[in-house]
Parts: sequence; structure tokens; C-alpha cells
Amino acid sequence: MNVTFLDACYGKKTSYTPVWYMRQAGRYLPQYRKLKEKYTIVDIIKTPELATQVTLQPVDILGVDAAILFADIMIPLIGIGVDLEIVEHIGPVMKSPLQTMQDIKKFRPLSPEQDIPYLLQTIKILRKELRKKVPLIGFSAAPFTLASYLIEGQPTRDFLKTKSFMYTNTKAWELLMEKLSDLIIVYLQAQVTNGVQALQLFDSWVGCLSQSDYENYVLPYTKRIFESLSSKTVPLIHFGTNTAGLLTSFASVACDVVGIDWRIEIAKAWKEIGYKKAIQGNLDPAVLLGDFSLIKRHVDELFISLPQKEGYIFNVGHGIVKETPVENIVRLTDYVHSKR
Ligand code: CP3
Repeated sequence: MNVTFLDACYGKKTSYTPVWYMRQAGRYLPQYRKLKEKYTIVDIIKTPELATQVTLQPVDILGVDAAILFADIMIPLIGIGVDLEIVEHIGPVMKSPLQTMQDIKKFRPLSPEQDIPYLLQTIKILRKELRKKVPLIGFSAAPFTLASYLIEGQPTRDFLKTKSFMYTNTKAWELLMEKLSDLIIVYLQAQVTNGVQALQLFDSWVGCLSQSDYENYVLPYTKRIFESLSSKTVPLIHFGTNTAGLLTSFASVACDVVGIDWRIEIAKAWKEIGYKKAIQGNLDPAVLLGDFSLIKRHVDELFISLPQKEGYIFNVGHGIVKETPVENIVRLTDYVHSKR
């Protein structure tokens, strides 16, 4: 098994820089698009053979150093019966967006074996398939990001409904964040029990908050999630976008790795996070739409700026976009591996 990625998570010396990509399985791959002609994303996730196949595609095609479980952040909500649809080119859309304390009280706990047996099965199959290859990363969204989808009802840019709910309905917000935290802990623990070897918590949209609001309304919950998982034997990654303004708080949780996007320079971010933690990122995925000389220039600049090589995991700053030529990612992976 190639453990370069796991070693880097713990800041250990590795013989080269490990690479994986957010959304490495998905629509930029023709093999995935072919499956999508017949199945919806939720069909794929609910069918362990298909989810396994999709998870393995980028491992074999790109030569990345980790696989990420093919799922979606909405799966635990689907598991407890929240009525939603993942709409092509839009994202998760709720049948009835969350509005009141009553709506939150209806939330029930997750029982992984009963509610999401397909996901646990996929993890078990994947561990066998990946035995001689690379580690398997599991994931969940963080409470803020899940709450934002539940309250907005669909993807948004300004998070106005979420923020006004948080500010004006604070008791309900606290209950919602508590319940989502419990759900996420159970969900992630089940993934570890069934075999995932690292966990990433996506707080994709939390960068819309000020640092003090982050500390008041979000950090206590995220802290509890990481503390409950830190006794587990797997490395923990905390990822967000637009986190430059709140990075010190964001990085203060019991995580091993902090994932950042391209809006902050890696050297500056690492200094703020502290060198005891590993860092993951942060190439702008838009660069991958250009030619290879552009990609190479960005990667070279990134590597020159690194204060140290130990504890660095190469990734994009946010998910790979569907227009990306596969060839570019294959060459990029090789190029990063060639830099020692
Ligand atoms: O390869 C991987 O990274 C694993 C698979 C993965 C998916 N979703 C599959 C997916 C992961 C890690 C996610 C997480 C996810 N889902 C996040 C957090 C990461 C991030 O992007 O910040 C979020 C916010 C979602 C919610 C979501 N699901 C969105 C915004 C969309 C895009 C809608 C669209 O059509 O553009 C989805 C759908 C989705 N999830 C796709 C994939 C491959 C694409 C649509 C499809 O194949 O039907």
C-alpha cells in the first residue's frame, strides 16, 4: 500500500509529494459521464458496485495517492429521510427548506447500518480493491455547510437566509447545529469502523462569515466533531474555501491537516495555521483549463513558496470542474510526483 498520503497528513517525511483531487471522480471523466447516461448520482451512490467503480476510476487513470469515497454531502440527510433531490447543474434542492424549531425537532438520529447500508458496503468493497494501492478517504460536510443547504433550500451565493436564521433564531440555530454535529459524528465514525483511512470535513461555505461570527455560531460544534474523532486512528482534514479571514480559528480544531483554497498563499496560510499541522491545497482548478505551460508555471511557483516539504499534500483549492481535460490532470499528477 502506498502510504505517502497518510505519512504527509502526519507531517512525516515522504519520498515525494502526495496528490489527490477534490472531485477527482466525476463529470470531467468520460467513463463517469457514460454511467450518468443511465443512472442518477444517487443511484450510483446507492449501488455499491457502481460507487466502487467510480471511486476507482481516478486512482487508475490519474495515478493519485488517495481515493475518495464516491458519495455526496447530502447522503446522511437522505439517510434520515430529508426529502431532497440532487439536481443536475444546480446541486442539492430541498422539497421543504427548514424554517422553524419544529422542523429541527423532527430530525432523528442516524443509524448507519439501517439508514445507509449501501455506503458501508461500498467502503468494505473498496478496502479490498485498494489493498495494494492507496488509502481511502471518507468525508462529511460540516454542520454550517449542511445547515446552509437545509435553510436556503438550494445552492446560494450570499447565504442570507442562513445568516438571518443564525442571527435571529439563535436558539433554533444552536439546536440545529447540535443535531447536525451528532449526525456527522455518527456518520464519520461508521465510515472509520467500516474501513476509511482518513477523513475530510468539508466546510465549503463557511468563509462567508466573519471570524467572530464563526467563533460564536460555528466553531464550538466543529471543535466537538474533531474532538470526538481525534481518538480514532485516522488523520483528520479540515477543509474550507474563502477561509483567509478566519484561518486561525478554522485551524484551531483538533485536525491533522488544514485544506485551503487559492485565495490565500500557501506560505502565508501555513504560517497562520502553524507548522505542527499539515497543509493541503491549493491550485486554482481554473488553471487546469489552460495549457500545460500555464499549469507548470503555477505548480512551480507553489513549490518555490513552500516553507517545508514535510506535511504538504498537493490538491486543488476546490473541486475539479467538468470542463477540465483529463490529459491535463494526468500530466499534472506526474509533474507533482516528479518534484522532490
Ligand atoms: O471525487 C470526489 O470528490 C468524491 C465525490 C463528491 C461528490 N460530492 C460527488 C458529486 C464529494 C466529495 C462531494 C461533496 C460535496 N457535494 C460538497 C462539498 C465539496 C465542495 O464542492 O465544496 C458539496 C457542497 C456538495 C453538494 C453538491 N453535490 C453540489 C454543489 C453538486 C454540483 C451540482 C452540479 O450538477 O453541478 C453536487 C452533485 C455532485 N456531487 C456531482 C458529483 C460528481 C456532480 C453531479 C452529478 O454527477 O450528477
